[in-house]
Amino acid sequence: MRVLVVGGGAREHAIAAALDRSGAELLVAAPNVNPGLDRLARESGRLDPTDPAAVVAFARRHRAELAVIGPESPLAAGVSDALRAAEVPTVGPSKAAAEIEWSKRFCRELLDRHHLGPQPRFQVLTRVEEVEPALAGFPQPFVIKPSGLTAGKGVRVQGADFATPSEGAVYAKSLLLQGDSVLIEERLEGEEFSQMAFVTDSGIYPMPAVQDFKRALEGDRGGNTGGMGSYSQRDHLLPFLRPADRERAIDLLRGTAAALAAEGRPFRGILYGGFMQTARGPVLVEFNARFGDPEGINVLTLYEEGDFDELLLGVAQGRVDPNLVEFRLRATVVKYVVPPGYGDRPRPGGVLTLDLPRIEAEGVRVYFGSVESEGGGRIRLGSGRGVALTGEASAIHEAAARVEAALHHIQGEFYVRHDIGTKENLSAKVEHLRRLLVPGAKSSPLPLSVAPPDAPASSAARPDQVL
Ligand code: AMP
Ligand code: GLY
Repeated sequence: MRVLVVGGGAREHAIAAALDRSGAELLVAAPNVNPGLDRLARESGRLDPTDPAAVVAFARRHRAELAVIGPESPLAAGVSDALRAAEVPTVGPSKAAAEIEWSKRFCRELLDRHHLGPQPRFQVLTRVEEVEPALAGFPQPFVIKPSGLTAGKGVRVQGADFATPSEGAVYAKSLLLQGDSVLIEERLEGEEFSQMAFVTDSGIYPMPAVQDFKRALEGDRGGNTGGMGSYSQRDHLLPFLRPADRERAIDLLRGTAAALAAEGRPFRGILYGGFMQTARGPVLVEFNARFGDPEGINVLTLYEEGDFDELLLGVAQGRVDPNLVEFRLRATVVKYVVPPGYGDRPRPGGVLTLDLPRIEAEGVRVYFGSVESEGGGRIRLGSGRGVALTGEASAIHEAAARVEAALHHIQGEFYVRHDIGTKENLSAKVEHLRRLLVPGAKSSPLPLSVAPPDAPASSAARPDQVL
């Protein structure tokens, strides 16, 4: 099958690699040169992925039989609608259905209209004059965010990014002056997780749960980023996430897909729920309309035996063979190698030397993002996330240790979060939730949850996961 991948980052490299393992012939439409994608692609088009006419012309010229859209900006620009109008089956919702991601206001109001949740208390602001009275009346602590797309970097959290309501007001006003509407939200306390699902006309098919690390620096300090790394657990749960809570998150995805369909916006693609696991269970932080980056890399690494191109064609056509939705029962850890200063002031241009055979010998896969090839195993870092290193093992900390071993085979100046997936970090997360559930509880490490030793080697979609 000839499959067009739209987008040029490490997530798209992982999508392309999964398609390549299924024997698909790859076409890539990206604004940048990506050494990983270039190696896999039969045809690479340097074009603006948010330009519907350019993407359609490229798809037509190379007779694409299926298109997969990686990032959110082409969805918001109507690229999926244009591809469908040109009769290219497409994984990626219409612009109207993707509004669930490109307008946080639409998302919150949709859920309210359909009595879906839980979601945090929120208020929408559209005028500068509303800011002071609204913030004075809103319970603290709160969060301020623009309604529109900001690549995960627009949210400011009271207590972490600003202290007083008047500091928050300055930020809210600056957003309104730029023309966006603003949401104030109750600050949720807990552990975040991402639950993605393939959404078709006939049902939803959940993927393993993943935890992303949004903050730039170790110990969850520094500014919000697109995600510095992520892990998934062997049983597709997380150390702090019980089966019943994951099911509640999946129920919200199912209800939201149904609500979108009921409003005339059927969703064909990947629905990503970003949740906060709180003392009252999972609460929705946001929806995305695509694979997470890096979370998509975790789950795609676990998709090996099936025919990924057939699965995606089913998603695009609205009907999936449940037997194709199979993720291996293994833990994965992704860590992004980024330029020094990434988050606030990235310093691009550094050259790294990767000993790929040695990295792969550690059982680690390499996905390229914002980098250029310099030849001879050397790459030049851009200002975005550079290289996603992905380790796999039966336990999360073992997968993280593989990535750490692989890092020894990269020479040059870069930053990476070494704390992702360590035993200490995982225990701290379990402990964090335990303290929220039992206020005042004394700190004592809890055993991490692990998959039963006799678990089957993979989990096929069960019929009860279908709408
Ligand atoms: P979003 O773009 O809505 O995913 O927000 C980016 C990040 O900001 C989230 O992943 C959270 O870490 C944080 N965030 C957003 N909304 C809230 C909230 N209501 N309470 C606490 N943290 C939040
Ligand atoms: N890792 C968060 C996102 O993909 O939006």
